[in-house]
Amino acid sequence: MFLNNIPSFPLILSPMEAVTNHTFRMICKKWGCDIVITEFIASDALIRNIEQSTRKMLFKEEERPLGIQIFGSDEKTLVSAALVAQERNPDFIDINWGCPVKKVAQKGAGSGILNDIPKMISLTSAVVKHTKLPITVKTRLGYSENNKPIVEIAKQLQDVGISALSIHGRTKQQCYKGNADWTLIGQVKNDPYIKIPIFGNGDISSPQMALEYKNRYNVDGILIGRAAIGNPFIFKQTKQLLNNEEISPITMEQRVETCKEHLDGLISFCGEKRGILEMRKNYGGYFRNIPDFKSYRIRLVTLNDYDQIINTLNEVLERF
Ligand SMILES: Cc1cc2nc3c(=O)[nH]c(=O)nc-3n(C[C@H](O)[C@H](O)[C@H](O)COP(=O)(O)O)c2cc1C
Repeated sequence: MFLNNIPSFPLILSPMEAVTNHTFRMICKKWGCDIVITEFIASDALIRNIEQSTRKMLFKEEERPLGIQIFGSDEKTLVSAALVAQERNPDFIDINWGCPVKKVAQKGAGSGILNDIPKMISLTSAVVKHTKLPITVKTRLGYSENNKPIVEIAKQLQDVGISALSIHGRTKQQCYKGNADWTLIGQVKNDPYIKIPIFGNGDISSPQMALEYKNRYNVDGILIGRAAIGNPFIFKQTKQLLNNEEISPITMEQRVETCKEHLDGLISFCGEKRGILEMRKNYGGYFRNIPDFKSYRIRLVTLNDYDQIINTLNEVLERF
């Protein structure tokens, strides 16, 4: 493995813009996640030293091993951004060749590059050549239903020296529609030419599914994204299942405490007003499937006052 001191089958927090910030990464680490990656950072913004982007690179030692993820479509800019990221001394730099969002893909960055594989390979190669840190790539199966060259892409990326490859089992055109198809991820992993770690990604929603997909597709590790939002406990529970241990249920006290920790972390990182707003997308996850929770959820996502939010969380603890 390209990283030291990680388990043989790492659980990775899939990078998510506006979700996998410093606070949430710390919480996931605490709950058993092995590797974290920053939100994606635009390479042109990084080299122009735009504060909103450079802030995304802040991390604490406890988060290691950590990757800084960058995206871009211009060689010079991407290499310069990788060098800027390298100065922060992360454990690795991840190139995002998977984002389907229009404003990214339209410019040939993210998954937009998947209809120009030679360019994807040459840009990746340039970043590998000019940096000292391990370079990893996160991408998708291909551009469209009729164009899924991921096996060939993986071989070429390995040839230019990347250290690991994460594959989301959808195409660029699929965006987030349909189900992730892991069969091609399995094919990449089981191709005898492939020596680098292959991490699978897409739709893992429970410890049971993680175990099943590990066994079925033989991948070297798994990235969990949406299922971890408001549910960092999934890492610990998955670990327990992988280790043949009983899965411990998460108590309401643990949910409420983690929620408060998350809120406080966001506030200390980005200020009270913004922290309270950012936290709103997480309550649904922390209190998923709790009957008769609706009125509390509405309060949590509308209140603007910190004390009132904490009081509501305390009420939740008393009531459920
Ligand atoms: C809100 C959101 C933001 C995302 N931002 C990023 C990102 O910054 N970088 C990236 O590589 N993928 C990003 N993704 C994709 C996820 O990392 C992951 O590949 C995708 O959600 C599939 O995994 P999942 O089914 O476990 O969520 C994002 C996904 C979501 C839902």
